Amino acid sequence: MSCLWFPYAQMQTMPLPLKVARAEGVKLCLENGQELIDAISSWWCAIHGYNNKEINAALQEQMQKFSHVMLGGLTHEPAERLAEKLVSKTQGLNHVFFADSGSVGMEVAMKMAVQFWKNNGVEGKYKFAALYKGYHGDTTGVMSIGDPEEGMHHLFKGFLPKQFFINPNLNEMESLFKEHSKEIAAFACEPLLQGAGGFNFYSPEFLKGAIALCKKYNVLFIADEIATGFGRTGTMFACEQAGVQPDIMVLGKALTGGYLGLSATLASTHVYNSFLGESEKAFMHGPTFMGNALACSAALASLEIFERENYLQKIARINEILEEELLNFEARGVKETRVLGACGVIETLSEKDHKGIQEFAAERGVWLRPFLNVVYTMPPYIISEKELRKVCRVMKEFFAPGSTHAQCCNVV
Ligand SMILES: Cc1ncc(COP(=O)(O)O)c(C=O)c1O
Repeated sequence: MSCLWFPYAQMQTMPLPLKVARAEGVKLCLENGQELIDAISSWWCAIHGYNNKEINAALQEQMQKFSHVMLGGLTHEPAERLAEKLVSKTQGLNHVFFADSGSVGMEVAMKMAVQFWKNNGVEGKYKFAALYKGYHGDTTGVMSIGDPEEGMHHLFKGFLPKQFFINPNLNEMESLFKEHSKEIAAFACEPLLQGAGGFNFYSPEFLKGAIALCKKYNVLFIADEIATGFGRTGTMFACEQAGVQPDIMVLGKALTGGYLGLSATLASTHVYNSFLGESEKAFMHGPTFMGNALACSAALASLEIFERENYLQKIARINEILEEELLNFEARGVKETRVLGACGVIETLSEKDHKGIQEFAAERGVWLRPFLNVVYTMPPYIISEKELRKVCRVMKEFFAPGSTHAQCCNVV
């Protein structure tokens, strides 16, 4: 084993990771010559697949000029154009703060919410409300608003600040706000689709009601669209399906088409204006690599392709195929299947019921990474119908009677 330390892995027992030599289109090409369809878009970010000629060219062009300059006191065209472009895709979110990862983008949103109230002369709002089964990243602040029971929260109990948690239920939310809204700076959620907490879906009605309650009780609303943004739930942003406009929205992952780390925290004019005035009101954050010129150039090229190639239509077709393939699927060990936008999920009764599926799928040319009790696909949007049906077939075959499931169960 190399000296690399891998994520979320018990290094002592982890099976040897598959070594990627190249990647092209939706395929990961391994050193051993094997090719795998990436059914999960490298943790949901590689929406154009790999080695996209247009994004490559945009990066090369930018690299000839400069790769990175600090954004403190300097500015550049890629960052300015990208900020304008993102603003044009939303309604009323007119200000963009860049950072280098989704987690940090969410940290930025939390700090923005706390400082918003302080700048408005409202003291005591230092807590957050969030949803059970939510996930917002791995850094300290955002870990505190991740699921307190099943997430990493419990490991770091005593270290993390205590926050408030509710289910996506408006009565619960109102009861919480009635008692604690004076302490709560913002409510944060992944709109419609909770990803890393187990691929749970909830209704746009909850979002609509939640934003109304936030307004009523003076709590800001933060939409974490890091996973849902850029079409994953069927619309450009999931919030659109509820017709709601958050006070703060965070984007990441697919923002650069999966090429480079970049996040954008967008704020409404109302939030932004509270930072104007005396120098102490300035927003106190500034990552070294914020607005990295290469990342911004990749994001601009990615958005250009997204629009020109009408990705929302491609996503609608992916959705139809996923529904056809997965919705009526029943098998031993399978609790439920569900589909939203370009995300298809097989939920098993327990983690044991999908043990071995990763190796099973890899042997058949598909890259999956199940976790908790879910096996899911979030494919690159360029996936062909044939490739997508193959992904679904392999996911289902594992559970079919007489599959080699039993042999695979010995492999972690
Ligand atoms: C909804 C959501 N928020 C935040 C993050 C953290 O993003 P990053 O891994 O880029 O820090 C993730 C990552 O999976 C996510 O799914």
